[in-house]
Amino acid sequence: MASLLCSISPTISRLSLLHKSSLHFIRIQGQRGLRGPTPPFLRTSFSPLSTQFSCSPKGQILKAVGQDEDLVVLGIETSCDDTAAAVVRSNGQILSQVVSSQADLLAQFGGVAPKMAEEAHSRVIDQVVQEALDKAEITEKELSAVAVTIGPGLSLCLRVGVRKARKLAGTYVLPIVGVHHMEAHALVARLVERELQFPFMALLISGGHNLLILARDLGHYIQLGTTIDDAIGEAYDKTAKWLGLDMRKSGGPAVEELAREGDANSIVFKVPMKQHKDCNFSYAGLKTQVRLAIEANNIDAEIPISSASSEDRRARADIAASFQRVAVLHLEEKCERAIEWALKIEPSVKFLVVSGGVASNQFVRARLNHIVEKKCLQLVCPPPSLCTDNGVMIAWTGIEHFRMGRYDTPPPACEPEDVVLDLRPRWPLGEEYAEGRSEARSLKTARIHPSLTSLIQASKQQQS
Ligand code: KG4
Ligand code: ZN
Repeated sequence: MASLLCSISPTISRLSLLHKSSLHFIRIQGQRGLRGPTPPFLRTSFSPLSTQFSCSPKGQILKAVGQDEDLVVLGIETSCDDTAAAVVRSNGQILSQVVSSQADLLAQFGGVAPKMAEEAHSRVIDQVVQEALDKAEITEKELSAVAVTIGPGLSLCLRVGVRKARKLAGTYVLPIVGVHHMEAHALVARLVERELQFPFMALLISGGHNLLILARDLGHYIQLGTTIDDAIGEAYDKTAKWLGLDMRKSGGPAVEELAREGDANSIVFKVPMKQHKDCNFSYAGLKTQVRLAIEANNIDAEIPISSASSEDRRARADIAASFQRVAVLHLEEKCERAIEWALKIEPSVKFLVVSGGVASNQFVRARLNHIVEKKCLQLVCPPPSLCTDNGVMIAWTGIEHFRMGRYDTPPPACEPEDVVLDLRPRWPLGEEYAEGRSEARSLKTARIHPSLTSLIQASKQQQS
């Protein structure tokens, strides 16, 4: 047993919560002497040749599953404001996909309130998972594994999904795969485009993340760039809110729609970080520019766009279009540089994946396609329903890792309520590329210094 435990230093590691009982389970498995009923994930007919022991990145012993093995995995996603579940086959067939959105809450509060989001997840999680199983015409017993997002995201929300996954896994003796939300956004492209082999590049654009990565292999990522403040999705959401748009479908789609009516060159917003020759992003400054333009045009967000005069509507549409042009130009510039960097590291890269909620935007897709073609690469953009948060990407990422033997053994059937769960609200995807650790990244810290200094001075003065 001990010899089977290896410790590879991972860029991403999976669930590490191991109970005594699950360790015991592994031991028995390692001896190939299973007691009691055979767990469903071992019921598939492994051919001895396709089965080998391997180690998860965190060093759990696990069994690699042959590439040809027919797996059926349930994926659960609750990291932010969507409760999602899906059942996916290892041949790429999506058996079901269910998403319960908290868009109404978002519209009401103008953002995600963690406690309310947690309550909303808790209210619907059982129903969403059951619906996914029913639509797939499958029972829990027929599953090969359960995959669940363990981070990054809001702890309170992640907890709801992880608890549900562990309950199912414990009751039906299923292995669990803990999934990185942003990795899943990238890997779902491999379900869509079966030609997509490693290494490839990915631009992942969502509400909380703006990542440029080089995916060298499964679980092995280099972060070429990230945001030094806000992500592009956040900028879309705030622009929508300040323009008085209908947030029920989230801010991004509302801005995209209104931008079609506007003149994208009417307002000159400054493209962020032009002077930084790196692949990092910044959207906080653009948000401020948008707010100032809104104030300058006397736009009242309290008046919904549906009630605005035609002149007012036109002014809002111009701001939306001008914002979108510059927000996407920023993506284009950084992508172009990242492709050059990536090709230096891995000259065989052929694809750029663009995924995450903002990748469902048609303007974003068209502009990035242009860049990718210019660089003689191919763009892979999952369909919008697989770009925004969904359970399919979690199930698929679960399948990819499960096949490699990276999973946790089933938890105990009756797990105590207060068990410490492995949740990773902050979880970097891969190592930062040395050239990416640019001045702009350190500026973030530099900017904190003056205020910290004045705080320290103030506290010293109070003490004396
Ligand atoms: O990946 P995602 O569904 O959730 C997170 O992981 O954050 O991304 C959500 C973000 C939101 O900011 C939303 O406004 C944005 O994606 N989004 C869009 C569009 N659809 C969703 N942004 C621009 N245009 C869209 N069509
Ligand atoms: Zn997401």
